[in-house]
Amino acid sequence: MTKPTRLLVIGGSGFIGARLVAGAADRGYPVAYTYLNHPLSLQAEAYQVTLDKADGSLEACLATYQPQIVIYCAVSPFVYANGDSIHQQVSVEGVRRTLAALDQTALFVYLSTNTVFGGGRGLYREDEIPDPELREDPYRTYALTKADGEKVTRETWTNSIIARTCVVYGLDVRGVLYPRVAAMVEALQAGQPLVRFHDRYISPTLVDNLVEALLETIAPTFGYRGILHLTGSERISDYTYGCCLARRLGLDESLVQTESIAASLAMANSPRDNSLDVTFTQSLLQTRLLSVEEQMARLFP
Ligand SMILES: NC(=O)c1ccc[n+]([C@@H]2O[C@H](COP(=O)([O-])OP(=O)(O)OC[C@H]3O[C@@H](n4cnc5c(N)ncnc54)[C@H](OP(=O)(O)O)[C@@H]3O)[C@@H](O)[C@H]2O)c1
Repeated sequence: MTKPTRLLVIGGSGFIGARLVAGAADRGYPVAYTYLNHPLSLQAEAYQVTLDKADGSLEACLATYQPQIVIYCAVSPFVYANGDSIHQQVSVEGVRRTLAALDQTALFVYLSTNTVFGGGRGLYREDEIPDPELREDPYRTYALTKADGEKVTRETWTNSIIARTCVVYGLDVRGVLYPRVAAMVEALQAGQPLVRFHDRYISPTLVDNLVEALLETIAPTFGYRGILHLTGSERISDYTYGCCLARRLGLDESLVQTESIAASLAMANSPRDNSLDVTFTQSLLQTRLLSVEEQMARLFP
């Protein structure tokens, strides 16, 4: 009988990582995770690991747990902090150090982001070359280092998957609604207008659907290695997303009002289309990537 595969989620105490740890444990994986400041109250082996300092904690965790699969979800909390060197440490050097210490047969999954693309056109495919240098918004350093993290993964580790996702929301591992969406719900419930851009596009992703898809990609039956786009199936505007939310909750949709990002001085440098094309990825997956209506129906049954 083959032994179950040991999975390690690096950055497993974060929003996506914690849902992954819980989802993997539910499916019978022996699973461990790393945290920096926020250990989880889950029945899983936990390692406190610092990625912005080479203090040996990462290497000790890998040597002790000896994972056969690693999913790398760590990211600096300061995503908007341009020029911050922590991004380089967490999104790039942490990957290098993990791969240097990992068993050669292990599968490595790097969770990446739609922001590796400049955002001028949208519906980027898996085989398009990232152009984060085009970004002039507060995500620039985050985007540049995530693209470098992808490059290190691709060039160092053949048995790897780079999974890009976008605007992930839903319930966290404690069952608490993601703050950005919770704020929108609160405004609508209070009868306050919700102003949303009609000319900025995203591919919203329900965390449950992302976790389901990620767990499919690490199963022994999934043979593809390379870049995947694990987002919801739809490119929609911020405004349409707000309307879907109001409709699903039976709240007044007319409270959702449109604004143009093109006319907003504060957002002048913000890319207009951050959506990803999932056609290729969907052709490989049995998990169905959900439309926004389907996501909302799952989130608010
Ligand atoms: N959320 C989204 O909408 C979204 C969209 C696109 C891509 N992604 C990608 O998905 C991944 C996970 O995102 P997320 O939203 O789940 O992130 P998150 O909630 O901010 O979690 C980040 C994780 O990294 C750990 N961490 C942060 N700094 C660290 C450091 N210096 N040393 C060691 N660990 C550190 C955190 O530990 P503690 O909390 O214990 O301190 C936490 O476990 C990231 O790679 C991100 O680029 C997310």
